[in-house]
Amino acid sequence: MVNDMELWTAAETVKQHAYAPYSRFAVGAAVQTRSGQVFSGCNVENSSFGLTSCAERNAIYAAIAAGERELVAIAVVGSEISPTFPCGACRQVMAEFGVQKVIVGTPRQQRAYSLAELLPAAFSEEQIK
Ligand code: THU
Repeated sequence: MVNDMELWTAAETVKQHAYAPYSRFAVGAAVQTRSGQVFSGCNVENSSFGLTSCAERNAIYAAIAAGERELVAIAVVGSEISPTFPCGACRQVMAEFGVQKVIVGTPRQQRAYSLAELLPAAFSEEQIK
């Protein structure tokens, strides 16, 4: 298990690999699994803009590709001036795999939100039964 600060640091580290030549907005994300492992991802843009893949989803999908299914927390590092909140699509993907805690902030100050705060009334498998 890593603590919030260590997860934040992992996200800061992977942010250095962001491929964001179009927006110039680099993002890094690190997700912690229930088993205590950490997976990270950065945003990857494309000249065909709509193909851009967010850091959060890249981190989550790396965890899934490694055989993980239960995720507990994610840290998102973007702007150094104000917190970078995950987009709606990434929030929905977080809900799919049980992410409960979302850590956002700046280098100076971080804050944890529950996913329920960021995505109330999420769509879920219950609704397609
Ligand atoms: N982006 C992320 O990777 N995660 C976020 O939480 C916000 C936005 C990326 C997508 C795009 O490459 C750039 O930031 C600007 O939107």
